[in-house]
Parts: sequence; structure tokens; C-alpha cells
Amino acid sequence: EFTPRVFSGIQPSGGLTLGNYLGAITKFVDWQDRGTHETIYCMVDLHAITVPQEPATLAHNTRELCAGFLAAGIDPERSILVNQSQVPEHAQLAWIFNCVARMGWMNRMTQWKDKAGKNAEKASLGLLAYPALMAADILIYHATHVPIGDDQKQHLELTRDIATKFNHDYGVEFFPLTEPVIEGVATRVMSLKDGTKKMSKSDPVDASRINLTDDADTIARKFRKAKTDPDPLPGEAAGLDDRPDVRNLVNIYAALSGHGVDAVLAEKAGGQLGHFKQDLADLAVEKLAPISSEMARLMADPAEIDRILARGAARARKITAPILARTYEIVGM
Ligand code: ADP
Ligand code: NA
Repeated sequence: EFTPRVFSGIQPSGGLTLGNYLGAITKFVDWQDRGTHETIYCMVDLHAITVPQEPATLAHNTRELCAGFLAAGIDPERSILVNQSQVPEHAQLAWIFNCVARMGWMNRMTQWKDKAGKNAEKASLGLLAYPALMAADILIYHATHVPIGDDQKQHLELTRDIATKFNHDYGVEFFPLTEPVIEGVATRVMSLKDGTKKMSKSDPVDASRINLTDDADTIARKFRKAKTDPDPLPGEAAGLDDRPDVRNLVNIYAALSGHGVDAVLAEKAGGQLGHFKQDLADLAVEKLAPISSEMARLMADPAEIDRILARGAARARKITAPILARTYEIVGM
């Protein structure tokens, strides 16, 4: 009964990373090109300000993220490309969901615990409420599927809990139980400096990540200096079990090349990490250079990016306004 619809978002809280690209954006392009679902992709600036952002930097990062989507293959005609704060229904539904979600649910979120750390008293209220806003982002479109990286799995479960409780409390079947889609070898790209930590655009150590805007020399240097052990590459995946840093590089190679981990190891078995890192850098530059140069071209005309986002917001509101109106009616407003 629900229109097949894909929604996903990325925070403009820094530059796009290889993790965002492999874990999220390449999947977004696949869904768009498959053509089985309506596709809506969002720059979630309201999420970004749950931690402090310098205003001019936020505005720059939002446009640059839009340029990244476009350069990677999102077509603003076939997909709705939208900035969250330009569609007020996201925040309006989030308030309703703040009143549906329970404090205990929010306190259990591992991302909240990680980001707030030991100083939860000093964290913003928005950081705690982040997953309710995310549920609103998804459900304001009645999205049926959400492609995401592995780190967002728990937030998708919470989205389903909120939909279930809303439907139950008001005796309706209004919100769908959205399916997470977490697929491929790169659902969790790890830091180049610590294979047990996720690569993130908000990591203060720049060398921990590949940014889509890094030039060829920077990409080669970051891979060369990536943390690894001195042993050669194993012949099969089981040989990577206790080697998270090496496994991460192999996974990245597999995702970028489109070959499976087994095929990559069969080809590279016994090779030295130094050589492998060079091959990996060459492959990454080959795949990312066209994207970064297209991003630079698009960023030279910010007014055009703003026009694309304004059009995206108008298209988005055709979906979100009726869903919010019906929600208010259900709630008695
Ligand atoms: P970040 O942590 O880099 O700020 P976001 O929170 O904006 O990223 O997440 C945007 C999307 O990118 C989400 O679907 C998330 O799961 C995915 N993602 C983020 N980091 C990674 C990663 N290291 N590996 C795979 N997917 C990732
Ligand atoms: Na994240």
C-alpha cells in the first residue's frame, strides 16, 4: 500500500569521506539507476548542528555535499535532492516524534553514548533527540527503504519503534515500518589510523580518512601512512580475522574495484603491504579523481547549486506537506 520509496541523508558536518562514498552514495546511485523506487537524498543540516558548526562553514559544506551527490551520479531530475532545513515538515514531524519516543530509548543509543561521552550534561538536547529527527526525515516521506552504513542500524530500529508506537497509540496504520538496506563489503569503512574505529568526516585527525576532495598525492600519502602490520597479505579472508587494519584496506580495494574480497586476496596473496597500498592508492585516485574535479567545477557556480536545492525542496514538499497535515489531523491538531 505504500509507494516504493527510498530516503537517505548525509550530514554536512565536514567534507565527504571514502566511507560516505562507499557506504552510502554509491548505493544511492544504484537505487536511482535501478528505477524501482522513488529516490530522495537529503543534506541533513539540522542534524549537523547537534554539535557546534561555524555558520559559514556549514553553508559551504552543505553546497559541497550537494556537489558531491551530483558529481557521484545523483541526477536531480530522477531523484529529489534536498536540504533538510528547506523542508520545514522534517522538524515539525520531529517534534511529534519527540513526544512519541521514550527517554529510555534515546539513552540506549550507542551513537549518543559515543558522541556525548562522559560529559552528557554538556551535550545538546538535540544530540539526544537526533534519532527522533532521523525518524521524521524518513517517515515524513513514508519511505519504505533506507540504504545506510552499518553505524546507522540502531537508529533504523528506533525509527521502526517510533512508527509502531505512533500507529498503536493513535490506532492507525499510517507510518510504514521502514526497511534498512545495509549491503556490500564497505558498510563500515574504518579509520586509516585505527581499524577498530569508523572512518568519519568529523574525526579531528585528517589522516584518518580519505576525503573526496583530496588530491592524488594526498590520497597516496594517506594510504602509505595507514596503520598496518608488517606481514604480507594472506590468501583468504580468514587470514584477516585478527588484522582489522589490513582487512579494512582489502575491503576498500574490493569495494572500489567491484571484485569480492576473495578475488582480491587470490590475486594479491603473499604481496607486501607497501605494494598493496600503492595499488590501492592508484585505484582510489582513478575512481575519485573524476568526482573531485566535477565537484570543483560545480562549486565554482554556487548559485546553480542553490537553484537545484530550491527545486528539490519544492518537489519534496509535495510529498511532505500532505503527510504532515494528515499526521496533525490524526493527533487532533
Ligand atoms: P559521518 O559519520 O562521516 O559524519 P554521516 O553520519 O553523515 O557520516 O552518515 C552518512 C551516511 O554515510 C550514513 O548512511 C552512514 O551510515 C554512512 N557512513 C558514514 N561513515 C561510514 C563509514 N565509515 N563506512 C560506511 N558508511 C559510512
Ligand atoms: Na554518522
